[in-house]
Amino acid sequence: MKQIAIAGKGGVGKTTFSALMIRYLLKNKPGKSILAVDADANANLNEALGLEVENTISTMLEDTKKPNAIPTGMTKEMYIEFKLQDALVETNNFDLLVMGNPQGSGCYCYPNDLLRKHLETLRKNYDYVTVDNEAGLEHLSRRVISDVDMLIVVSDASARSIRSASRVHDIVKSVNLDVKELYLVVTKVTGNEIEELQGEIDKTGLRLIGTVPLDPMVAEFDVKSKALIDLPDDSAAVQAVNAILSKINL
Ligand SMILES: Nc1ncnc2c1ncn2[C@@H]1O[C@H](COP(=O)(O)OP(=O)(O)OP(=O)(O)O)[C@@H](O)[C@H]1O
Ligand SMILES: [Mg+2]
Repeated sequence: MKQIAIAGKGGVGKTTFSALMIRYLLKNKPGKSILAVDADANANLNEALGLEVENTISTMLEDTKKPNAIPTGMTKEMYIEFKLQDALVETNNFDLLVMGNPQGSGCYCYPNDLLRKHLETLRKNYDYVTVDNEAGLEHLSRRVISDVDMLIVVSDASARSIRSASRVHDIVKSVNLDVKELYLVVTKVTGNEIEELQGEIDKTGLRLIGTVPLDPMVAEFDVKSKALIDLPDDSAAVQAVNAILSKINL
């Protein structure tokens, strides 16, 4: 099992990168099993992958809190584990798990422990697990998601966003995340911004593994609500993501 997480500031292109990474794995690692995890509270990876999602981890956990929710003969723990299984969206090619938005107030610690165990067991069934995170790295810093082999920090081609990538790196260091490889990808590049940004990039301490150009086809697919995973081979973003991932030992 190889777990690859994507992180970065809001709107930089994390979900686009995640969808194109799954596209890459499907095309280049035939026969391998893939679990895509949407760990962003404002989930939309499913749209990029062209999937409908009924249940998320959060809605399932909320269900278990309803009065009389737990069937007689089941412990709360057993029931939660049982419900968590319903959050998995299965397709012929890959599976998707959406963490969702924790609506409930109060302590989330108890489900977090169960969630951690659930994910640890679940991920053993897959060759690749990809995780689309929100900027704050909530699930990673609370160790709900652990053992990340590779963290790809995404930034767009602005100095502010690169500084944000630097803060993601700081979080990784400060919570002592055990991440084996750490990379920076700069997206929505239109010209020679990298030259201009080199100073900021150096300060992040992250290794720039590649860039993704601003691709009108990505914008067009988004406007038309078409799944990004269906972008054609000649899309500039697809080609760039493929080139980046072929450099990494996946
Ligand atoms: N390479 C690209 N070329 C053109 N447009 C892009 C590219 N990458 C991302 N975008 C556009 O930028 C916007 C944000 O992209 P995306 O949803 O992938 O970012 P995100 O980091 O996942 O955002 P959020 O933080 O809201 O989850 C979208 O409108 C998307 O179409
Ligand atoms: Mg996103």
